[in-house]
Amino acid sequence: MAQPLPEPGLVVLFGGTGDLARRKLLPALARLYAEGRIHPHTRVVGVATNPKNDEASYRQLARESIEGAGLSCAEAGPFCGASLHYQPLGEGRPEDWTALAARLRDLEAEHGLVPRRTFYLALPTEALPASVAGLGEAGLAAEAEGGYTRLVVEKPFGRDLKSAQELVDVLHAHFREHQIFRIDHYLGKETVQNLLAFRFGNAIFESLWNRDRIASVEITMGEELGVGTRAGYYDRSGALRDMVQSHLAQVLSLVAMEVPTVLGAKSVRYEKTKVLQAIAPIGAKDVVFGRYTAGEIEGKSVPGYLQEPGVPPESNTETFVAMKVEILNWRWQGVPFYLRTGKRLGRRATRIGVRFKSSPVCMFELDGMCKISSNLLILKLQPDQGFSLYMDVKRPGSATDLERIPLSFDYGKHFQGTPEAYQTLLLDVLRGDQTLFVHADEVLESWRVFGPLLEMERDMHDYPAGSFGPAAAEKFAIPDRALMRGE
Ligand code: BG6
Repeated sequence: MAQPLPEPGLVVLFGGTGDLARRKLLPALARLYAEGRIHPHTRVVGVATNPKNDEASYRQLARESIEGAGLSCAEAGPFCGASLHYQPLGEGRPEDWTALAARLRDLEAEHGLVPRRTFYLALPTEALPASVAGLGEAGLAAEAEGGYTRLVVEKPFGRDLKSAQELVDVLHAHFREHQIFRIDHYLGKETVQNLLAFRFGNAIFESLWNRDRIASVEITMGEELGVGTRAGYYDRSGALRDMVQSHLAQVLSLVAMEVPTVLGAKSVRYEKTKVLQAIAPIGAKDVVFGRYTAGEIEGKSVPGYLQEPGVPPESNTETFVAMKVEILNWRWQGVPFYLRTGKRLGRRATRIGVRFKSSPVCMFELDGMCKISSNLLILKLQPDQGFSLYMDVKRPGSATDLERIPLSFDYGKHFQGTPEAYQTLLLDVLRGDQTLFVHADEVLESWRVFGPLLEMERDMHDYPAGSFGPAAAEKFAIPDRALMRGE
């Protein structure tokens, strides 16, 4: 049975003319409308500092974004025009906030809406504290009788444990945790969510999912893309902040968590937090940092990180990191988890490899060599989506010669079209479902684990663009390299 439509209200996009709003949020809202999954009376208010913009120019910007995302205005209906509004925030002085509050009240009165407000802060991290305080001080964090007020914030959630704690404190000074939706867009990906279904919908795996049966686990997020035009942001972040502390920590928690009591926000987020709490401090010998040098990607020459526009020549920022993580709990004691991510690698591939323990005795030998390989499960998150379970089968004609063969499932072949992460996440915000959003405790635990790596003395290992990272990092990986790289 189809889920009921979320009730209508106002979606207020701070950073309403910015990159995220144009590339993702406005098209996602329009697509939800086109698919009949958002209430047609929902209205969007773009908020930005530019006083020159007005309703007409905002509607024009939205039209271009929506059409640029491959949707026509015929499909997007009022989300291409009549349902869109614009409110300038000027310099964010108290009177600007009061004007915003008055505008929201007027729109609700004019369109007969109960105050159900979603404030989406699509803003740089530095701008978050002032915006959260601005909302709170203007009385905009309050929840009206019969309505709600929700706040959506984007990663990065701080730059280290201290700043993350400060951000949590600012948020909690004005909003309560049930109002806060912290977005990590990886949780909106269908294949990431499918991890829960894979683990908890298929009882055969749950009984194998522990230190008795699993030898090691690798989570790899490899990108072909370089830093592009984002050097200003990236050079201050690096792979640790950009990918490990957020996306990798989230996927690791889903892979390693205990079975939640129910599939709800409270249970799932509690179990994910427990995984992060159980991670042992990571020592310098268990991490390798790398940085790409010039090389070739798909036959095209690309510059090294230090030659990218905007990267300071003295930069010591990592574009690759690989590490071994230990989870000190009953289920995982002794099982290494390898985390790896890098830019400008030879192939884009986000994969989870679960290597099972080998048979205790080798009964299949050929020419003095054991022909048994370890069973391997590869969960493919992107760009190809699905999974392969590798098993040994006997080659015809020989009693002891075995070959490793995958049993495979391809998401794209079986299901036509999967929703974009932002569509899923926006809809969940409107429904008030926090399962796929990050709790404050997860943020802080993740910084507790990965924050100290930022301070570590680092040997930077160069790797040519188009390779698979520095040779020194090969030890932090399961042995099935070609499969993990998507080759
Ligand atoms: C973002 C990072 O959060 O995730 C980017 O800031 C990275 O640097 C991106 O490229 C990867 O996301 P996806 O969905 O393309 O795997």
